[in-house]
Amino acid sequence: MTLSSAPGKVYLFGEHAVVYGEPAVPCAIELRARVEANRRDDGKLRVHAEDLTLDGFTVEYGGRTDERPDVDVSESLVSAAMGYVDEAIEQVRDVTGEDDVGFDVTIESDIPLGAGLGSSAAVVVAAIDAATRELGVTLEVDELAERAYRTEYEVQDGQASRADTFCSATGGAVRVEGDDCRSIDAPDLPIVIGFDGGAGDTGKLVAGVRDVREEYGFAADTVEAIGDVVRTGEDVLAEGDLEELGRLMDFNHGLLSALGVSSRSLDAMVWAARDAGAYGAKLTGAGGGGCIVALDPTSETETALSFTPGCEDTFRAELAEEGVKRLA
Ligand code: PMV
Repeated sequence: MTLSSAPGKVYLFGEHAVVYGEPAVPCAIELRARVEANRRDDGKLRVHAEDLTLDGFTVEYGGRTDERPDVDVSESLVSAAMGYVDEAIEQVRDVTGEDDVGFDVTIESDIPLGAGLGSSAAVVVAAIDAATRELGVTLEVDELAERAYRTEYEVQDGQASRADTFCSATGGAVRVEGDDCRSIDAPDLPIVIGFDGGAGDTGKLVAGVRDVREEYGFAADTVEAIGDVVRTGEDVLAEGDLEELGRLMDFNHGLLSALGVSSRSLDAMVWAARDAGAYGAKLTGAGGGGCIVALDPTSETETALSFTPGCEDTFRAELAEEGVKRLA
């Protein structure tokens, strides 16, 4: 038996624009997915998943996504649990050369699904790491990030940036621009998360930005302006000026909002955080619903969010210095 964990992330800056080659700065947070892998010699894949938005279900199937299991949860959740794990195991078979190997995989996650906190990347990174080690192969972190990226790329029909998977594998704050991924220094950030209990449809939201960007020159300029905010934000992050960092996060949220990827509940949470005195606040990830990230060293933002209609949960998140952890 092997057990690995990997962290989720927030975007300090740059989601959506990263799809068009602008830089983005995600940052790993101490909310983790833990994946246990046990080898099976019958070639089957059995997945047991439990997390915040999934009551817990077990499915057993032959290891091909076209053999959908018959379970009483929505198709999207089955896809989330099965599609990603199935492709992750394909990557494991490929990298180890053990084409016919199967696994019992148990997933336990603190990260809400599809809420902009990188749940799928964390599950994929931890699953590939645990399953390769179960076969006696320990991947370098860069190779692990690459295999996790390929997994997301396959499952999301080519609509994946390297940001989530690289950040989850390496931990800390990272800078991603196209294929160039690197770790960057970041001060200890007073991160507060607000969660509306929902999820956005990443594919649809990415397509929406693509359409508006093609239709209007000023929308294309907006995407470029996000890139400018990110470039400024990187320098400010290195200096550790939280006040300016917050101001830039506010700016980034405004631009995302202009592109149509915010929502009433995300805006309500962002404004609650700002009114409570946070340095700044923005949505994180694809948007449409899910989470916001705010910077506030005091308890004011959490208190305000806990009274905000539309906010289902609020909590503090430490920056995760370590990416993948090999626990057993
Ligand atoms: O919601 P998440 O964590 O999957 O983030 C999506 C980020 C996008 O920039 C919108 C898409 C991408 O793959 O980078």
